[in-house]
Amino acid sequence: MPTILIMNGVNLNLLGKREPSVYGNRSFEDYFTELQTQFPDLELHYYQSNIEGELVNKLHEIGFSYDGVVLNAGAYTHTSIALADAISGITSPVIEVHISNVHKREEFRHHSHLSRVCVGVILGFGLESYRLALEYFRKK
Ligand code: DQA
Repeated sequence: MPTILIMNGVNLNLLGKREPSVYGNRSFEDYFTELQTQFPDLELHYYQSNIEGELVNKLHEIGFSYDGVVLNAGAYTHTSIALADAISGITSPVIEVHISNVHKREEFRHHSHLSRVCVGVILGFGLESYRLALEYFRKK
C-alpha cells in the first residue's frame, strides 16, 4: 500500500480557529480522520510544525522511502529556499497544496519557491485541496 505523508507548515496547527472566513472552521485533525476513511488504499501519515528546520528534517527522514508528500508549507511557501532545496534533494514526489486561492490574495502570496520543484500544485479548494492531491497518488 502506498505510504503518503501530509505535511502542514507554519500556523496550520490553528486550522479551525484561524481566520475561519479564509481557512474554514474545521481542524485538520478532524479532516485527517475523514481522509483516512476515504483512502483505505493509502497509508496516510500526518505531520505539522511551525519550525522551518523541523519541516526540512522530516522531508529528509521520509523523503527516500515514502511514495509521496502532500505539502502545505503555509507562509514558508513564499519565503523558504531551504524547503525548496529539501524537496529537490529527496526522491519522494511532493505536491504543493493551499487551502485558499493565493492568486486572489495579496501579491506577496503569488510567488512560491516550492512550485518549481513539486510535481504539481493544487490550490483554492479549501480542505478539499488535500483530497484532490491524494487522488493523484491513489491513481499513480
Ligand atoms: C496557505 C496560503 C499561504 O499564503 C498562507 O501563508 C498560509 C496558508 C493556504 O493554505 O491557503 O498559511 O498556504
